[in-house]
Amino acid sequence: MGISPARAGLSLFRAGALALAFAGSAGAVHAQADVKRGEYLAKAGGCLTCHTEEKKDALPYAGGRALKTPFGTFYGPNITPHPDAGLGRWSEADFVRAMRLGERPDGAHYFPAFPYPSFTKISDGDLRDLWAYLRSLPPGSRANQAHDLRFPFGLRFLIAGWKQLFFVPGAHVGDGQKPAAINRGAYLVTALSHCGECHTPRNSLGGMRRDRLLAGSKQGPEGKAVPNITPTRLKKWSDTDLKEFLLSGLTPDGDVTADAMGEVVKNTTSQLTPEDLAAVIAYLRAIPALPDEPK
Ligand code: HEC
Ligand code: HEC
Repeated sequence: MGISPARAGLSLFRAGALALAFAGSAGAVHAQADVKRGEYLAKAGGCLTCHTEEKKDALPYAGGRALKTPFGTFYGPNITPHPDAGLGRWSEADFVRAMRLGERPDGAHYFPAFPYPSFTKISDGDLRDLWAYLRSLPPGSRANQAHDLRFPFGLRFLIAGWKQLFFVPGAHVGDGQKPAAINRGAYLVTALSHCGECHTPRNSLGGMRRDRLLAGSKQGPEGKAVPNITPTRLKKWSDTDLKEFLLSGLTPDGDVTADAMGEVVKNTTSQLTPEDLAAVIAYLRAIPALPDEPK
C-alpha cells in the first residue's frame, strides 16, 4: 500500500514522541509526590488533632491524643517516620491500604475511630502527597498507648463484621452534572475533612446513617450533641456568616465555638484556601435539607 517513507517516518516519530510523553508524565507523576501539597491536605484532613498529645510542646503527629467515645477511649498513634515508634518501616502501599481499606500492614482491621470510612474516598494523588508529607516529619519516639475499650468493643476481629455492614471502600466519584465547586466541596466534606464523622448520626452499632447525611447527631464526641448542618438549620446563616464561623469559630449570635468544633476550625477549616472554603459552603448549601433528629 502506498504509505510514503516520509509519512511512515513521521508516524513512527509521532508514536515515539507519544511514548516519550507518556513515560515522561508517568515519571513526573511519581516524582511529583508533593510534600507542600501533602501538608495542606493533612490540615484539610485534621490529622494533627487526633495524632498529637494534648499538652504544651507535644511533638506534632507523635500520637497520644485521648479520644473518648461511647465504646471507650482510643489513643491516636504515632504517625511520624520513627522506625520503631512510628511508621518508619511502612511503604507507601501500607499507607494506602490503611487509609483506603482500614487494614494494618499485618492484615488486622483498624477501629473506625480512625475515620477511614471517610478517608477511603481520598484520591490516589492526594494519598501519595499525604504520605510524602508524613515521611518528611521529624521522627518522634513517643511509644503508642493501648486503647482502653469496653468489652467487647476492644476485640479487633469483630471489626471485620462491622466493615461488612457499614464500610464502603473506594475513592470519591464526582458528579459530572454538578458544578466543579460543589464536587470539590463534596470531596472535602465527605472524604478529606470528614465532617460527617461527627455531623451524621450513627445507628446503635456506630455505623453512619447514609439517609441522614449531616443531619446532626445526639451522640457526638464526648457524648455531646452535634448540630444539623443541612440547609434546614443553616438557611438562617448567610454565606458570610458561614465563612466567618469556619474561619474564626464565631457564630452569628456572637458565641465562639469550643471543644470538638473549635479544633476543627483551628486545625482545618481556617486553614483552607479561599476556593476550598467557598466549595465547602457551596456544597453545604446544595445538600438535601433534613429535619433534626427526634429529641
Ligand atoms: C478522629 C481522629 C482521627 C483523625 C482525624 C485521623 N486519625 Fe489517624 N488514627 C486514629 C486512630 C484512633 C487510629 C488507631 C486505630 C486503631 O488502632 O485501630 C489511627 C490510625 C492511623 C494510622 C495507622 C497507624 C498505625 O500505627 O497503624 C494512620 C497511617 C493514620 N491514622 C493516618 C491518618 C492521617 C493521614 C490522617 C489525616 C488525613 C488521620 N490519620 C486522621 C484517629 C484519627
Ligand atoms: C470532631 C467532630 C466534628 C467534626 C469533624 C466537624 N464538626 Fe462541625 N461541629 C461539631 C460540634 C460538636 C459542633 C457544635 C459546636 C458548638 O455548639 O459550639 C459543630 C458545629 C458546626 C457548625 C455550626 C452549626 C450551628 O448551627 O451552630 C457548622 C457550620 C459546622 N460545625 C460545620 C462543620 C464542617 C463544615 C465540618 C467539616 C469541615 C465540621 N463541622 C466538622 C463537631 C464537629
